[in-house]
Amino acid sequence: MKAIDKPVIPSRSACGLKDLTRREFLFTAAGSVALVTLASLPGYTLAQSAEHRARLAYYPRRKIGQMSQLETGKPVLLQYPYPEVNCLLIKLGAVGGGGVGPEHDIVCFTTICTHMGGPLEGTYKPEHQILGACPMHLTTFDLTRHGMVVSGHATESLPQIVLETEGDDIYAAGVLGLIYGYAANLERAV
Ligand code: FES
Repeated sequence: MKAIDKPVIPSRSACGLKDLTRREFLFTAAGSVALVTLASLPGYTLAQSAEHRARLAYYPRRKIGQMSQLETGKPVLLQYPYPEVNCLLIKLGAVGGGGVGPEHDIVCFTTICTHMGGPLEGTYKPEHQILGACPMHLTTFDLTRHGMVVSGHATESLPQIVLETEGDDIYAAGVLGLIYGYAANLERAV
């Protein structure tokens, strides 16, 4: 019997297309879903579509640390995308969704509780990779699962900072999820 050859699928670059970076892929996918949803609304026009496409602005890409400087279970506090938004960079010691580094265990999240904005700094539990309990109403968040709520009053996951690496350097490159107190992450709270 004659063997059937496997089909050869050319790469994007072989087709003259640019390979997407991790950040471009995430925001392109999120933007596509948003535009498809908007386009299905009655009265939505092409002009509005172009306007919304223009509003898919890119986040600042900023160096926030070095992998070699992180100790497992010891959070580093930083601010992103604004000086007033505290975030926690952490090497979990366990694979985390969206994690970077050789063990895929370096993640970063905002420390503003999604329920009513309670401060989560100083509440990390390294033995369980949990952030919380929030001092206001006791919500806890699982940092291995994209900041999913484990228990408590909050219903939204903790916004996760999109990370990229270059050599030993770690860069923040976006935010997945709405930061508490903001109508849109790229517009400052009023
Ligand atoms: S503000 Fe954090 S649980 Fe209510």
